[in-house]
Amino acid sequence: MYYNLKENCILIEGAARGAIYNLNSGRVYSINRGAIDLLKACQAAAIETLLDIDAEDSKPYLSFLDTLTTKDLGAFYVTLQTEAATRVFPCQQPHLEYIWLELTSTCNNRCLHCYCASSPEVPSGCVSHSRWLELISEAHSAGAHTLQLIGGEPLLYPQWRELVIKARQENYETIEVFTNGTLIDNDCINFFKQHEVSVATTLYAATAAIHDKVTLHPGSFEKTMAAINKILANNIPLRIASILMKVNEHEAENIMKLCSTLGVESTPPDIVRPTGRGDDLDLLPTSYAKPPIKPPFFTDPQSFAKAQKFHGCLAGRLAITASGDVIPCIFARNQICGNIINTPLQTVLAAKPLTTCWQTTKDCIAKCQDCEYRYACPDCRPLAQGTDPQKNWFATPTDCSYNPYTGKWEDVT
Ligand SMILES: C[S@@+](CC[C@H](N)C(=O)[O-])C[C@H]1O[C@@H](n2cnc3c(N)ncnc32)[C@H](O)[C@@H]1O
Ligand code: SF4
Ligand code: SF4
Ligand code: SF4
Repeated sequence: MYYNLKENCILIEGAARGAIYNLNSGRVYSINRGAIDLLKACQAAAIETLLDIDAEDSKPYLSFLDTLTTKDLGAFYVTLQTEAATRVFPCQQPHLEYIWLELTSTCNNRCLHCYCASSPEVPSGCVSHSRWLELISEAHSAGAHTLQLIGGEPLLYPQWRELVIKARQENYETIEVFTNGTLIDNDCINFFKQHEVSVATTLYAATAAIHDKVTLHPGSFEKTMAAINKILANNIPLRIASILMKVNEHEAENIMKLCSTLGVESTPPDIVRPTGRGDDLDLLPTSYAKPPIKPPFFTDPQSFAKAQKFHGCLAGRLAITASGDVIPCIFARNQICGNIINTPLQTVLAAKPLTTCWQTTKDCIAKCQDCEYRYACPDCRPLAQGTDPQKNWFATPTDCSYNPYTGKWEDVT
């Protein structure tokens, strides 16, 4: 008899331990070195040649295999499953799917943490209107189906409506305007409805006193809330983001309650990322923290295949800043991959800087490359880079306490 993992159940080795990825259920199971060695031996030889079935000291091994069988991870086979050790999960070359256009760096707010350091004094940007229009076509031809107009404050870009109309003509599936909401009037609402635009906006608190302490714009909370109410009354799809820093760190629950009262999906607020004005230790909250990276990890066949060749979040995305720089994510301000003012988007897409970002897997990251969770664990490169004193793109995430060389979570006793 032979024992093997079932199809779609994959053994991934780390430095000290291993993990079985069940691509049917999505669950990832941790196993120790002895279990890895047994499973690898089973891939080459019959169980009777590896263990004396009746011996007392074989019992733990057989009991482990029974547990795997009960969990539907493995099975006994009459013949050797020769393909088991070499199963490959092909992943298609990613193409552009999602694009951020940062229309302007100017803003009527001056938020404490703003990654593009926006304020009323910051000049608008230097991508010409005709170039933005071309880029909307170039990105769609390259495969993009989702377009986000962002800033700064995108509604301060005078011809933003023309860009939406162009994107509709190009047949983008989703067009989202990410705005602080303070400038939304009835005319904007009618335009959003007519052109099927989704809106994203930001709340920093459930009260004006605290929200306006972040935006440094007295009256901004009232205006944003008025916009939110109009958007909802008109059934325009709306997302509400919230970012916490020291001045609003106790607002997480209040914001989530307010969102559920409004009937908008509420997710735990994110924390300020160390980029732009946000790259300031004094802004960091002292008591609120996003949950660190920890099991349980989950995956699926597509994500598992992608994670071995490409970055799970970045591959397929890019952002263009108000100065025409191409960056792999709107938060990755230090990772300039080209500039589209005089260069076709297609050229930047094919060039090494962007393809390297898209190909940044956990196999490129010190410590993670030796971790058995590396093809299921989420990764935010701009966060890891921003937290690194040298701003290294390949920096090891700091929000994970796992030591793959000992197999221990160091904050767990
Ligand atoms: C830069 S703004 C542009 C759109 C619009 N002006 C607004 O504030 O909603 C987009 C989002 O990025 C968030 N953001 C800006 N700087 C950030 C940082 N350093 N870390 C995390 N989020 C940040 C803002 O809070 C906002 O939710
Ligand atoms: S976060 Fe948005 S609203 Fe605040 S200053 Fe930056 S661009 Fe303006
Ligand atoms: S962050 Fe790296 S070390 Fe931590 S669990 Fe994920 S892959 Fe493993
Ligand atoms: S998770 Fe990180 S990499 Fe992905 S979009 Fe958000 S900030 Fe960018």
